[in-house]
Amino acid sequence: MRLKDKVALITGGANGIGLATAERFAQEGAKLVLWDVSDKGSEVAAHLNKSGHEAIFRKVSVTDEQEVQTAVKEARDHFGRIDILINNAGITRDRTLLKMSKQEWDDVIGVNLTGVFNCTSAVAPVMKEQNYGRIVSASSNVAIRGNYGQTNYVATKSAIIGMTKVWAMELGRFGITANCIAPGFIHTAMTDLMPEEVRKQTIPQIPLGKWGYPADIANGYLYLASDEASFVSGICLTIDGGAAR
Ligand SMILES: NC(=O)c1ccc[n+]([C@@H]2O[C@H](COP(=O)([O-])OP(=O)(O)OC[C@H]3O[C@@H](n4cnc5c(N)ncnc54)[C@H](O)[C@@H]3O)[C@@H](O)[C@H]2O)c1
Repeated sequence: MRLKDKVALITGGANGIGLATAERFAQEGAKLVLWDVSDKGSEVAAHLNKSGHEAIFRKVSVTDEQEVQTAVKEARDHFGRIDILINNAGITRDRTLLKMSKQEWDDVIGVNLTGVFNCTSAVAPVMKEQNYGRIVSASSNVAIRGNYGQTNYVATKSAIIGMTKVWAMELGRFGITANCIAPGFIHTAMTDLMPEEVRKQTIPQIPLGKWGYPADIANGYLYLASDEASFVSGICLTIDGGAAR
């Protein structure tokens, strides 16, 4: 098992890629701390526990610094350590620049950027004490190629790549790696929001001619969270069927 007895904290673990990652990590022997704003997280944790794994769920918004600090303490009290942080929670509020409201900008920055800062700055001291940690965050291939109607989202996903490189430099001496993943189009609730017509138009841009599934990204998170990637830090792993240019 590639994550035997490792404690992994996954934000946005109730749905989509976060849920697939929780299931994949559990198969590999990890103990799980799941955070989400959706109550569905408690069903996910209950199901994992019933299947013989160890998981706890807490309703946490990554936007709330105080809540995050309290929940990190709770996770550490429960499992004794936190080996892996998967900064996966994210939202979209798509609108072209000329129509985007300040609220839409703030909402996306709050979850996708400040949320990642809140979680990483709360967990990094625990990892430093352990002299061990794996931080993996969700960027997107739109950070590399841009995307129509996503000024707010692209700003956050580009920032993740930059912050990851900084954390690799700052935290490496404490045995902590920091990496991110840039998924392309993946079938989840987030992309279900896209009109069917727009979804069809994306296919010719993808050399493999199809969208990916949450498990494709979960496998990338798994690699970067495992000891197989112990000499990998500061990278952004694109998993998008070859679409990024
Ligand atoms: N689906 C894709 O095609 C795609 C592509 C590139 C990047 N990504 C990124 O991958 C990550 C997961 O995306 P997904 O497609 O699984 O999305 P999703 O909408 O299926 O799941 C996201 C989860 O995050 C949770 N969440 C939202 N706001 C939160 C908050 N404030 N605090 C805690 N949890 C919160 C949601 O409740 C949900 O369970 C996101 O960061 C997304 O930007 C997805």
